[in-house]
Amino acid sequence: MSFDTADNARRSEHPVHPSFVERWSSRALTGEPIPDTDLLTCFEAARWAPSGFNAQPVRFVYAHRDSEDFGRLLGLLNEKNRSWAHKASAIIFVLSRKDFVFNGQTVQVHSHAFDAGAAWSAFAHQAHLLGYATRAIGGFDHKAAPIVLNLPNTHAVHVAVTIGRRAGLSDLPETFHAQETPSARRPLHTFIHQGQFQGESE
Ligand SMILES: Cc1cc2nc3c(=O)[nH]c(=O)nc-3n(C[C@H](O)[C@H](O)[C@H](O)COP(=O)(O)O)c2cc1C
Repeated sequence: MSFDTADNARRSEHPVHPSFVERWSSRALTGEPIPDTDLLTCFEAARWAPSGFNAQPVRFVYAHRDSEDFGRLLGLLNEKNRSWAHKASAIIFVLSRKDFVFNGQTVQVHSHAFDAGAAWSAFAHQAHLLGYATRAIGGFDHKAAPIVLNLPNTHAVHVAVTIGRRAGLSDLPETFHAQETPSARRPLHTFIHQGQFQGESE
């Protein structure tokens, strides 16, 4: 991406809480266990995310690295992602329920994916505040995931997420070394529009 240069890396244009800028998605992880209490705190943060109708459609399936389920969840990732994600302390799949019972009627929750995204963001932010790195992963077997995760067709699967303590480059395959650094963001003026959408400037 053209904005992704060392020049504008991770500098806020306007004052924000430093934790927004300091969070970044490391691939190099130590593989050490994460206490359940920390993982539950991250899920708790996700629980307080806003959602359409307050339907709270987000669901999580997770496995600690030292559990039997870890290999099954890791096995869903594509080879490239598996090559570093095997050092995660836990892998979490972010799901959502697509329907909702409202006044006795089952209705579709059009915002289920959006709501799951908001919940993942809260999860990631809380993890950062606890000193963990998270990384969302869209590169997984989207056909096999609902089967392996035992999902009914009322539920969608969005991303896998790794969580763990950040490690040094020696814990990461060399092919990722150059990318193991915080990335930049497009300038603010390129995506905010007053009054009406004014087209893409860059
Ligand atoms: C929906 C989604 C899918 C992603 N898929 C992958 C992936 O398959 N592999 C990977 O290494 N990173 C993946 N990422 C991580 C992004 O590349 C990363 O969040 C982005 O470059 C911004 O960097 P930052 O999170 O460090 O700020 C994904 C992120 C999101 C939100």
